[in-house]
Formats: sequence, C-alpha cells, structure tokens
Amino acid sequence: MDSCDIGVIGLAVMGQNLALNIERNGYRVAVYNRTAERTRQFLAEHGQDKQLVGCETLAELAANLKRPRRVLMMVKAGNAVDQVIAELLPYLEPGDILIDGGNSFFKDTERRAQEVEAKGLLYLGMGISGGEEGALKGPSLMPSGHRHAYQALEGLLQAIAAKVQGEPCVTYLGHGGGGHYVKMVHNGIEYADMQLIAETYDLLQRGLGLKAEQISQTFATWGQGVLNSYLIEITAHILKALDPLSGAPLVEKILDVAEQKGTGKWTSEEALELGVPIPTLQAAVEARALSAQRTLRLEAARQLDGELLGEASSPAPAVADLEQALYAAKICSYAQGMALLAQASQTYGYGFDLSEVARIWRGGCIIRARLLEDIRRAYGENPTLPNLVLAPFFRQALVNAQSAWRKTVCFGVSKGIPLPALSAALAYFDSLRSARLPANLIQAQRDYFGAHTYRRIDEEGVFHTEWQSME
Ligand code: 6PG
Repeated sequence: MDSCDIGVIGLAVMGQNLALNIERNGYRVAVYNRTAERTRQFLAEHGQDKQLVGCETLAELAANLKRPRRVLMMVKAGNAVDQVIAELLPYLEPGDILIDGGNSFFKDTERRAQEVEAKGLLYLGMGISGGEEGALKGPSLMPSGHRHAYQALEGLLQAIAAKVQGEPCVTYLGHGGGGHYVKMVHNGIEYADMQLIAETYDLLQRGLGLKAEQISQTFATWGQGVLNSYLIEITAHILKALDPLSGAPLVEKILDVAEQKGTGKWTSEEALELGVPIPTLQAAVEARALSAQRTLRLEAARQLDGELLGEASSPAPAVADLEQALYAAKICSYAQGMALLAQASQTYGYGFDLSEVARIWRGGCIIRARLLEDIRRAYGENPTLPNLVLAPFFRQALVNAQSAWRKTVCFGVSKGIPLPALSAALAYFDSLRSARLPANLIQAQRDYFGAHTYRRIDEEGVFHTEWQSME
C-alpha cells in the first residue's frame, strides 16, 4: 500500500502509453480504468516485470499512492473530467495533486482549478501533444496551475517529456488554464499546418500533374530543408502507401471529409473573442467544415463545372516555388498562433514566455518543426516582438519567398484549385504590410448608415458627417 509515485486514471491509448512512459522512467504507477476489464487487459499485456499496480476502485487507487498523492486524469475532455473529479475527491486529502492531461477547454480548467483548490487540493491542467507514440516515447507537455504542484511534478514531467538537444519539452505555463490554452493554440496551428500541406498536395497533383509517388518524394526532399517537420515527414510516408485492395495509392481511396474534435474551433472562437486575427487558422477550420458538406459539393461540382479550368492564365510555378509558398504561409500561421498567445497572456495574465512555448514545441508534439528553433530564437532575442513576421530572420524569409508564394496562389486561383489557407496567409501578410487599408471606406459607410462616427488622419477628435446632404 501507498507505494506508488503517481496514479493514472483512464487507460485509453494515451493513458496507457503515458503510464508506460512514466514507469519506464523509474516511477511506480497505480493504474485505474472505469471498466476494470481494461485494467486487467493492460496489466496482462504490459504488467510483467513492471512497476504497475492495477486498481479496480478509486479508493484502492488513492490507498496505493504516496502522500501527497499525485493523480493524472487521462479521460475524455468534457463531463467525464468533472465526473472523475467528483468521484475521486472523497478519497483525496488537502495537499494532494490532481492533473488533467486531456484536451480540456481552458475555461473548464480554470473553473476546476478553483473548485478543487477551494478544497485544499492542488490542480494542474496539462496539454499533452504527440499522439500515441509521443505519449509513449516522449510528448511535449504544457502544464499550468498551482506552482507548488508543478514544482512537485517537475522532475517526473522532465523525465517523461521529449528531449531536444537534451532539453525536456516541458515548461510551466502560468496559472489555471494556461497550459490548456497553449495546447488549444497548438492544435489551431496543427489544423493550419495540415491544411496548408493538403493544399500544396492538391497543387502538386491536380495543378502540376504529379503522381502520389512523386509527391511523396517531393515532400521527403522538402523535409530535409526549411520545411523539416513531423507533419511533412508523415505526409511523405502517407503518399507512398499503397492500398492492398487495389494497389493504388491508399490516400486516393480515402473519403475527402475531414473530421474534427473541436480544438481548432475553440482556437477560432477564442481569437474572435480577443480580436486577434488568425485567418490562416480560421481558414483551416472552415476548410474542414466545407469538406464535410460533401453532398452539396457533389451537386455543385455537377452544376458549376467542377473540372479544373483548362489553360491557366498564370504561369505554372516550379516545385521549388511551392516549397517557398508553403514555408511562407507556415511562418504566417505560426505568427498568428503566437499573436493569439501574446494577447491571451495579457488578457488572462498567464505570463507566457513565447520563446519557451516555441522551445517545448520543438519536440514530441504534432507541430514539431525546424522552424520552431528559429521562433524560439526570435522571441529569445526580443520577447516583446510585436509580430513574428517582424523578426529579422522571418522578415527576410518572407521577402525571399514572396514572389514564389504569389505565383503559386495566382496559379491555383487561375486553375480553380481552392487555396483557402495559402491565400489567407498571403492576405494576412499583405494586410500587415499595408500602411493604409481600405478600412477608411468602412468607417465612412458606418457613419453614413448609422452615425457611428469616424476619426481623421489629419485632426484629433471624433467626426460625423451628414453624408446624404453632401454633393
Ligand atoms: C496532439 C493532437 C491531438 C488531437 C488530434 C485530433 O497534439 O497530439 O493535437 O491532441 O486530438 O490531433 O484532433 P482533431 O480530431 O480535432 O483533428
């Protein structure tokens, strides 16, 4: 009894793999699952010679833990987390630490932290990225909450996290829901990254006529350069895989309806709430929603001539141009995610260090990429950078990529290939670099129909015009 260093509740794949990762790092782990059969199966498969203790009730789990207890909940985000907390609390004591490792909404984490801490316990919300493999071999960890709870767990978290150049991909991300906030934005960027890659695949395939095998090789080559990243690497693998039934590339047999569990949508809603423009991330969420309207698309394709337009009025880009376009758009999408984090840090007082955020995303997580080292450096050199695109390194990269990027988007537009994220990123870049936007006209219109007033460029004060009486 009371011999285990930590308890893990929830033995779906992520919970199982994290428990194994923690155990491999020298900790004794008590495990519990609502359905006891799964706990038994898990122990039968993995329990031999391992420091794993199966528990069939929460009382048993609590009794098996060293004091103060440390319990990691790996259950589905939403009501299940509240339920587990309510069922577990009677077995815990003040000073015990409760950690939520699911993809919880940050505001739920804020609320739970308050409720749990009112009872004298300590709460940590922890975003975990890396999928099944990351959980087992080393994920990126995004914890926040009570500082003492973080300090009590820091050693364990550093041990199980992914390492990049010896540095563990974990850092303290402020109070309450800060960690889940960072994970949410990570997922928003993940959506954008995936959408940008998918659009580039479309351009390579339908636009330039490359076969899946050639596109796979293209991505594999790009993966050695500035685009080096996990998502590019798996894309190269995916495009190589053949369907055992038909022998055709498997990817071509997959229904073109992208699903989502909601973290991308939360990022979009949050950005609208805080007034931070993240058009590339928004475009990625909406592109998934549009892909899901398949019946409508099939009908529209029939009525609106779904074939690609013949001779493109814009010249075809070279494959190297597409690489530059993807890189530039990727920079803009990370810039948008970072801008949202910067604003959230102010609004909610999380105190995010963006250089640290980039550092812990360099390994273990789904958006890990070479680019994150450059982002880490940019915020390290200037923590109050107004926007990533203004960091000298990225400014130069965008200037260099600009003409290839424009050529790529023009070609897609002229062929009728939808590029919602690539073009939204370009419009973001162009909006940022426009000293004057046509918002003056919007202000005039608002004042015309609603007397909403406007400000002038040459005089202080607030103005209204009786537009109808003007010549
Ligand atoms: C991660 C991922 C993961 C996420 C999946 C699916 O960082 O490991 O972000 O947490 O749940 O990628 O997300 P969607 O179903 O919304 O695509």
